Amino acid sequence: MNATANITNSPEWNCIHTNDSETMFPTNFAWGAATSAYQIEGGWNVDDKGPSIWDTFCHEGGRLVFEGQSGDVTCNSYELWEEDLRCIRQLGLTHYRLSLSWSRLLPEGITRHVNQKGLRYYNKVINDLVASDVLPMVTLYHFDLPQALQDQGGWKSPEIVAIFDSYARFCFGSFGDRVKLWITLNEPYVCAKLGHEDGIFAPGVKEPGMAAYLVGHNMLRGHARAWHSYNVLYRAKQGGSVSLAINSDWAEPLDPASPDDTAATERYLAFTLGWFAWPLFVTGDYPEVMRSSIEARSKELGYQESSRLPRFSKDEPSLLGTADFFALNYYTSRRVKPGECCPGVLGLKSDQDAEGVVDPSWPVCGVSWLAVVPDGLRKLLKYIKDTFNNPAVYITENGFSQVGPVDMEDVQRCGFYHDIIQEIARALREDGVDVRGYFAWSLLDNFEWADGFSVRFGLFHVDFSRPERPRTAYRSGREYAGIISKYRSQTMVNI
Ligand code: GAL
Repeated sequence: MNATANITNSPEWNCIHTNDSETMFPTNFAWGAATSAYQIEGGWNVDDKGPSIWDTFCHEGGRLVFEGQSGDVTCNSYELWEEDLRCIRQLGLTHYRLSLSWSRLLPEGITRHVNQKGLRYYNKVINDLVASDVLPMVTLYHFDLPQALQDQGGWKSPEIVAIFDSYARFCFGSFGDRVKLWITLNEPYVCAKLGHEDGIFAPGVKEPGMAAYLVGHNMLRGHARAWHSYNVLYRAKQGGSVSLAINSDWAEPLDPASPDDTAATERYLAFTLGWFAWPLFVTGDYPEVMRSSIEARSKELGYQESSRLPRFSKDEPSLLGTADFFALNYYTSRRVKPGECCPGVLGLKSDQDAEGVVDPSWPVCGVSWLAVVPDGLRKLLKYIKDTFNNPAVYITENGFSQVGPVDMEDVQRCGFYHDIIQEIARALREDGVDVRGYFAWSLLDNFEWADGFSVRFGLFHVDFSRPERPRTAYRSGREYAGIISKYRSQTMVNI
């Protein structure tokens, strides 16, 4: 955090906002909030749920999870779903993004054994949402692989592709009459990099420069198989849309006049956004600069085997066109220069050879990586429009975190939500980006992966010290409700 401004001291962060009287949103714009199963549900071993890799990761000890915490109970949404629904209604959301716990539905990960209690739980959640006029966006996989599948090789194993497809079909068949927006996989980049390169997320594999590419590859193949299944078996009857949630920073050269910084920025984006978006939206394959950087580094290191970045087989259905919309998780921005990391070392960072730095003028909120740059979202949206053929875009995650003593009157987060929504309005109105919706991360304070409960992203505070886990709206929650109500009461005029 060293050179960055401290957000709490930044006078510009308050709830007074000007110049937004012109702002309009399409009448069917999705106003949402997001959560994920492991982060909120708890009930990790009740009602026949099977363990997931996050249960194992948190329980086995020796991992770098804050204070050895876990999602065993967290918000206890498995028992307190109706409390969540109350929060959703209080915000006036039109959409709610949740994820399904694969091992709650299929304890061993495969459809031979369906857990009826898990099925009943998600049916109730979805029915309650629909009855409340809130449309569900459902993610099939948000980091929590059934442990039984990890034991067979997990995402590194090619077998996972067909297994994921059959799980996806099971979900489309069970819930697709009511769910019209599907995300197959959340942030394959994070699963690949943090889970299989750095080992700081489950399953805690550290195989730098190797496993992440394989995992990313199998995730993309699994996504494409599931999309094709939906297309052939369910689309005509259910009429929904399916995509993959891709996380990316906005990146621009540290020195815009420097060709080296410009080239590094291209690599930075290629190894995050491009890795997963290029195959779906542009060529059916990885960005050329990603492959050539990896090949060059392999050569330099005398790495003899076949390419570390796998190739898609011509015998499989193409990845191109397997996203019905662009699902973007945006949190932060970076200025980029060539990497200083570890020459001679096999690893994703050395392949990428690009380093992102935080501009000293950007405030950092809570966690050190989260420099708050609302206009980075607008720039990224414009880049997506221009690079990926003007897709419909849902911003499926975006948020602002709090650490340290709880601040229920979180004026900075209020300011952040106003600013980010203004940037989306400009992207719609001035840049012509087809933005369809916005999902704030997150509805509730929750288990923030390796940061445990030390980082709070919620629009609602959750008191984790009490068994009833009471939920209380932060000021930012009330503010977001006000924003939604204001824009929903307008009609579309000038977009
Ligand atoms: C994303 C992730 C979410 C949430 C968020 C905030 O990468 O999908 O589950 O943790 O980051 O850090």
